[in-house]
Amino acid sequence: MAPEADPANFLDAATWSDPHPYFAHLRATEPVSWNEWWKGWIVTRFDDVDHLLKRSPEISAATVAPALHRATPEQRKLREATFRVLGSWLMLTDPPDHTRLRRLVNKAFTPSTVARLQPGIERTVTDLLDAAAHRGRIDVIRDFSHPLTLSVISEMLGIPRADRPQVGVWAEEIMPLVLEGRSSQGRREQAESVMQEMEMYFRGMAGSRRRSPGEDLVSALARAEHEGGLLSEDEVVATCIMLIFAGQETTTGFIANSVLALSEYPDQRELLRRAPQLMGSAVEELLRFCGTAFAITRLARTDFVLRDRHIAAGDKVMLVLSAANRDPARFADPDRLDITRDTAGHLAFAGGVHYCLGGPLARTEARIGLGMLLARFPDLQVPPQDLEWRPVIVGREPAALAVDLGPDRRLEAAG
Ligand code: HEM
Repeated sequence: MAPEADPANFLDAATWSDPHPYFAHLRATEPVSWNEWWKGWIVTRFDDVDHLLKRSPEISAATVAPALHRATPEQRKLREATFRVLGSWLMLTDPPDHTRLRRLVNKAFTPSTVARLQPGIERTVTDLLDAAAHRGRIDVIRDFSHPLTLSVISEMLGIPRADRPQVGVWAEEIMPLVLEGRSSQGRREQAESVMQEMEMYFRGMAGSRRRSPGEDLVSALARAEHEGGLLSEDEVVATCIMLIFAGQETTTGFIANSVLALSEYPDQRELLRRAPQLMGSAVEELLRFCGTAFAITRLARTDFVLRDRHIAAGDKVMLVLSAANRDPARFADPDRLDITRDTAGHLAFAGGVHYCLGGPLARTEARIGLGMLLARFPDLQVPPQDLEWRPVIVGREPAALAVDLGPDRRLEAAG
């Protein structure tokens, strides 16, 4: 352990409600620091995070196995099912398994595939905004971004409409298993039994798509398993659960974080209102400024030295994407939202072999969702409220975000 260990619990409610000053201090004074509360290394500078993501063979993404080894014999039975699923998630595997799985799933996420989803996304956003318009005040997450992202990923996978609400609840409930954060033992055990339910559900769905395939992604994965022998049935099931999870939480929170950030920078919001063609660059800046993947975790595969710190094989290493994205050595005046800035190279989607597969989809959902929300309700206001930030390292987002929509431009135009 490093001599001057940092004891701070950065997930306590006070620090986590505005974590940037804490991580900025680390970045300036001790860019590779041992955190005694988290029992791992925290890396905050852009160059170091970028290097570890893209060029370092010293770190591994396979972070789940140690939890299985730590389990008591009673926990192990439940946990083995979880491990069977999480052990095949792209973001939790290393090459060569990662390379094979990613090549298969990649086909569903090319920019042209995502472009084909665009009309459906627009229809869903219109329906959600029609429903919201009647209410006046909505929770952006519950009433807008969550149903939007759930609908998009469900369409891709071919999940029947009737099952979608249940699948959305499951994705929420397995969070303690996937994302590091504060969660009670009780919630974790509940999450493990939900994971088993999801496994059964997707095993059944993959079986029926194998017998009568459709145009959806579950059918494509089942075909790759059945005809090509390219992946196992467990991997098909694990990949479906991973996509439901990865496709929802991050984008849901990102849209909410963006609404909040734009309300805190009225000049930027006004600029966007006057120049909606800036939406593409605004989304990139919002990803840099308030992307939901605050940090990701890895394990040291071998002993190595980073900025004179000796990191031992097996140590946990946290790459703080948000601190890297606000590193003044990389982005000038980084704590200011500037939708016209050059954000090239930001790390909101990480980088290297695990670079977010859903990046094009997330960008499209955010561009359409935010664009249509702000165009239709240009006077939208975020009223004063106590935000409860989810105590989760990867998904920093509020649990709820109330907004007053103001007048509906569509009705005004019609009347
Ligand atoms: C704003 C929204 C999103 C953010 C901020 C985000 C962020 C990230 C980050 C940081 C990673 C790297 C994880 C790691 O290396 O440990 C990642 C990986 C991944 N993301 Fe996203 N993501 C978003 C949306 C999506 C969507 C919509 C999907 C699609 C369904 C998706 C699917 C994936 C997958 C499959 C991986 C694993 C890739 C791999 O390991 O090869 N993400 N994402």
